[in-house]
Formats: sequence, structure tokens, C-alpha cells
Amino acid sequence: MDGKDLTICKLGGSVITFKDKPLTPNIKAITGLAKALFKFDGKLVIIHGGGSFGHYMASRFGLGQSPAKTSPEAVAMTRYSMLELHLTVLRIFLDAGLTVYSVPLSGMMNQRLPSRQKMEALVNYTDTGLIPMTFGDVIVSRTGSYIVSGDQIARLLSKHLRPRRVLFVLDVDGIYQDPEKTTLLRELKIAKTTNLIFSKGKIDVTGGIERKVKEASRIANMGIDVSFVNGLVPQRLLDAAQGKNPIGTVLKGRKVAPLSNSR
Ligand code: IPE
Repeated sequence: MDGKDLTICKLGGSVITFKDKPLTPNIKAITGLAKALFKFDGKLVIIHGGGSFGHYMASRFGLGQSPAKTSPEAVAMTRYSMLELHLTVLRIFLDAGLTVYSVPLSGMMNQRLPSRQKMEALVNYTDTGLIPMTFGDVIVSRTGSYIVSGDQIARLLSKHLRPRRVLFVLDVDGIYQDPEKTTLLRELKIAKTTNLIFSKGKIDVTGGIERKVKEASRIANMGIDVSFVNGLVPQRLLDAAQGKNPIGTVLKGRKVAPLSNSR
């Protein structure tokens, strides 16, 4: 699979919802993102997070990232909240002229993990002019229920689709050197990602910015460039998608030897 002209874009829940207001989408922000991405001329796969929908429900009901026995109500309500947000995002994107096509993670699953073939099928959708859109989700397995974050999905898709670049869209300008967010890092080296000290979010059940940076460094280790941009300034998202260098943080992909056909 060669995704040279593919961009994977993860829209963080902190941008598309008001994180401190349960179950409240940020319609203006979603609209801004949609309008910016409409101007992007390239293949896209979009993933969105949970923000004050999924995270709120998951923390209220005690759902986490490891399979655990949880009440059916916890699973049902968390998933429902994600679907509610997903429909809102889909609707706004469609209205902006983006032909988004919903692909829930469960539709890509094979036992506990998304299967390679099903993930690769997403590229076929992009060949027909569709923009696959998925989201951080609640998965039910024999060993229990658990959450798979949009950041994990970005990493899994990157492994199989080998996109040209991955964009993490945040509600801040990028990755900062300090928890007080005084020094923005314009470029981050993979080796430096483990030395950062992060501020702790309140209701994030999937590890917040720290986990995001961890997933991003795993993607960069595959040789793929990762950019963090502020989605509340939509032009930066468009610029980053177009390979420009807007205000934000770039995590350069590790230089790797060309892939052989074996995986
Ligand atoms: C969370 O996905 C999904 C659920 C809580 C069900 P993410 O972890 O990717 O969400 P954000 O972007 O951090 O809000």
C-alpha cells in the first residue's frame, strides 16, 4: 500500500467540542475545519475524537482503554454519545461540500484489532472521491469492553496506509516545552518526545496530550511526518495539509530505508 498522496487527519475532541461542557459540539469550530479541508486538493482520511461526548460518558461510567467488564449501559451510552457527535460532524462536513463517508471502527475490526484488509479498503473509498471518516470508539470483545482512541486509530491506519503526512488538530498551537505552555516547539525530535512534561487534562480517559505525542512518535518512527496544528485557526490546518509550515509543531518522520513488500 502506497499512500504517497494520502493525508490522515485526526480532529481532536478539544476542537470539535467544548471540553468543559458535557455533550456540546463546537459547531463554529467544526464548520471552520470543514471549510478549510474543502479547499484541500488531495486524498484524506479523517478521524475525530470524543471530547465532551465520549470522554464525558466514558469517565462517568468508568470505561477505559483496557478490556474490562462494564455495565451494558456504560457501553451503550458512550457509543451513543460518539454517534451523536459523529452525525453532527458528518452533517457539517457534508454541508461544506466534503463527501464524507462514515466508517465506524467496528466495521474495520477483526477480533480485537482492525484488520489490514479492512483498513486498506479505506483507500479504495478515497479513489472514488469519498472521504472516509471514523472516530474514537467503544469496542466490545469477549474479554470486555474498551475504548480505542482516535490517536490509536491514526497510528494503526498509518501503519497500513503509509500516508504522506498525519495531522493532529488541537485547540492549542502545538506541543509546548512546558506545562504552562509558554514555549511552543516548532520542531520536535522523536528522541525528545519522552522528555516533555505535560499538563493534565480533566476528563480525558485516553491519556490526553501525552498519549497523543506517544502515538505521534510511533507514527514518526514509521518515517511519516506528523504535524500538530491549532484547529481553531483553520487556515493552519489547510497549510499543514498542503505541506506548508504554519505555526504549529512538526515531528519529522525518521528517515527509513524504502519499504520492501514484506510487512
Ligand atoms: C475518544 O477518542 C473516544 C471515546 C471516549 C469513546 P479520542 O481519545 O481520540 O478523543 P479526543 O480527541 O482525545 O477527545
